[in-house]
Amino acid sequence: MAATHIVAIDQGTTGTTVLILDKRLNVRARVNQEFRQLFPKPGWVEHDLEDIWGSIHGAMEKALREAGVRGGEIAGIGITNQRETTAVWDRRSHKPLQSAIVWQDRRTADLCARLKAEGHEPVVREKTGLVLDPYFSATKLQWILENVRGAREKAESGQVVFGTIDSYLVWRLTQGAAHVTDVSNASRTLLMNLRTLDWDRDLLDLFGVPRQMLPEIRGSSEVLGVTRGVRSLPDGIPVAGIAGDQQAALFGQACFDAGAAKCTYGTGAFLLQNTGPEPVFSRRGLLTTVAWKIGDEVSYALEGSAFVAGAAVQWLRDGLGLIKKSSEVEALAKTVKDSGAVIFVPALSGLGAPHWKPEARGVIAGLDRSTTAGHLARATLEGIAFQIHDLAEAMSVEAGRPFPAFRVDGGASQNDLLMQFQADLLGVPVERPRMIETTALGAAFLAGLAVGLWPDRADIGRYFKVGKRFEPKMKPEERERHLGRWRKALALAVGWAA
Ligand code: G3P
Repeated sequence: MAATHIVAIDQGTTGTTVLILDKRLNVRARVNQEFRQLFPKPGWVEHDLEDIWGSIHGAMEKALREAGVRGGEIAGIGITNQRETTAVWDRRSHKPLQSAIVWQDRRTADLCARLKAEGHEPVVREKTGLVLDPYFSATKLQWILENVRGAREKAESGQVVFGTIDSYLVWRLTQGAAHVTDVSNASRTLLMNLRTLDWDRDLLDLFGVPRQMLPEIRGSSEVLGVTRGVRSLPDGIPVAGIAGDQQAALFGQACFDAGAAKCTYGTGAFLLQNTGPEPVFSRRGLLTTVAWKIGDEVSYALEGSAFVAGAAVQWLRDGLGLIKKSSEVEALAKTVKDSGAVIFVPALSGLGAPHWKPEARGVIAGLDRSTTAGHLARATLEGIAFQIHDLAEAMSVEAGRPFPAFRVDGGASQNDLLMQFQADLLGVPVERPRMIETTALGAAFLAGLAVGLWPDRADIGRYFKVGKRFEPKMKPEERERHLGRWRKALALAVGWAA
């Protein structure tokens, strides 16, 4: 039996997707399984690691059945994951010490403010390319070490270990034989030095993190271990690739060269531009991050992170009950010809790049008696596009050139109305690939390269096909009118933090 398939696990914020691909990049199965979101207090977001592990089995078993693929036909496993989410578990029992603290969780806002007031931000920024925001792992880990009974002693004695979700999954897949992460995930922790690509002694001291609890930092495309004792998989399958989900999407969109960029519209929306072998530091609130490391070759990226994109549509569904399914938002938005000058700044988890205001709150402005649910739906989609416009503008100034075209992916990129408005605001064409599962695809590519299923990146690049192109149509005066209203509402959301 030839091993000619790759299994990609995309462990995202609200669900796990398992994708099975064959050597010719035919999707043999794609299964998504959602899991519980825990909101123990306002601003807190947690995941039960056992729920996550259960979702992997559920999706894996179904996907293997659907594809009709047996264990011996799998050449390797690629993992991609929600980044920054912080997990601590027991070395022997594999049990979580406490629920994982999710990237959206804002509980460490005060801690970050204190560290900033003490003047630590410039050094942190210089070493990590990140900012002091609760988004990243370090202050979440510090919170666990300081607030969960016995955590620090157990960490110091080596009884419990830390990892982002990639790390936890490799641990479970290999039954604890590999405690590893990859550079792209490590670059989101606030603990890794961007230049040495190793844990940084000063940062470990600053956040009070014992080094012995940290995983080994590895490349993004190499064999990290083999499966052992996993219910849904036979033993001995190589786990051969890891990348954080946004970096995996950059790879899956074949953005291999400096200058190439993509935007993924998921729970949040993340714009990444490949900047090549050297880190580029932003003066406009963007992040510097590692895209991937393959062999000895490292690629860096600039990133603009908006915390709320699809999550705003979920809020229309779950918070307001305006729609039953997220996919209904486009039809509702189309019941009106425009947003009626209503602006929604979806700062529902504070504001990320370029503002970095964890205390900012959402704003809906411009209501009058004629405002309908349709206007709100339209303003929600437009609010997502406005945020990305601001990030793209900062990024193109920083890179010294506008984007020639704008590659998009992720669930909400299926929304034509949103994509057209995005193209109109940016003034450049938006290109949606035929296959929008680029995150899982990226992880599959990284694993497939490591086990020799595909010889090189050029081979993969040939498969990239544009599915639909959205040409900008809006007149410049109209765009300025929209942006003018957005800026006024945005100032209110930012000011809320003051
Ligand atoms: O940085 C957070 C990001 O990795 C989460 O992505 O797709 O789960 O919203 P997603």
